[in-house]
Amino acid sequence: MDLFEAIEKRRSIRKYMDVPVEWDKIVNILKAGRSAPSAGNLQNWRFIVVANKQRRRQLAEASLQQYWMESAPVHIVVCSMTKKSSQFYGMRGERLYDIQNCAGAVENMLLAATSQGLGSCWVGAFDENEVNDIINIPPSARAQAIVTVGYPDEVPPRPAQYSMFTTISIETFGWRIASESQALRLYGLANREKIEKIKSMFEEITGKIKHHVNKAISKKDENKEKEALDEEHKDLEEKHGKEKLEKTDLQRHKDDLLDRINI
Ligand SMILES: Cc1cc2nc3c(=O)[nH]c(=O)nc-3n(C[C@H](O)[C@H](O)[C@H](O)COP(=O)(O)O)c2cc1C
Repeated sequence: MDLFEAIEKRRSIRKYMDVPVEWDKIVNILKAGRSAPSAGNLQNWRFIVVANKQRRRQLAEASLQQYWMESAPVHIVVCSMTKKSSQFYGMRGERLYDIQNCAGAVENMLLAATSQGLGSCWVGAFDENEVNDIINIPPSARAQAIVTVGYPDEVPPRPAQYSMFTTISIETFGWRIASESQALRLYGLANREKIEKIKSMFEEITGKIKHHVNKAISKKDENKEKEALDEEHKDLEEKHGKEKLEKTDLQRHKDDLLDRINI
């Protein structure tokens, strides 16, 4: 699946099929998480894969009773090595990079799940102490997110999104773009949109041309058929006319003969 398609298709899935997920797919998700960027290449993440039913139930409970999580056959608890982040980058490392690095890993995982036909959800609402106890997280680490994974059993609608106009400023904070199309042009997306528009216009026009050409061809065939029938008809008429003529000549000849012999 194309990256943009995966980004567009990804949704938070909160209902899963009772179908196990192939281990290969889980490995691909973990690899995607591990490939995320991290400040100073710190890679301060640890991924704990939880498939045990009882433990998943406990995690759902610790996540403020989000029992829907139980239906996901796999939970991946993303932990940060907070001590490591602060050792390298002090307060900024602990308060910012520690979280941001893990967030990048989580997003990679969600997209890897989508691209493999799986559903996922980023769960952030949980009691940290309870989660620490359930999976034995040491004091040097911190649970950042739980990613639920499984085959989706729902197709949630796309949630409402702020417009580009609201979301984007140019050059300085708050310098609003005049319109959405201006933002699109600035970010090169307008050209892609234009190309798509031209492509569909072209397809529409070629479709119409094809339709008319086919119609003309069938009309021509129809005319040809009609001409052939007319020709045949004419031939028949001529032949028939001649026959008629021959018949009347014969009749006249016969009458003549009968006259002569006075019958
Ligand atoms: C940091 C973070 C924490 C979240 N925590 C939860 C959560 O605890 N439970 C949940 O159902 N969804 C959670 N979500 C998912 C959001 O509700 C969801 O991404 C948002 O509603 C947009 O929907 P979408 O993911 O389908 O685009 C979380 C998302 C993020 C980024």
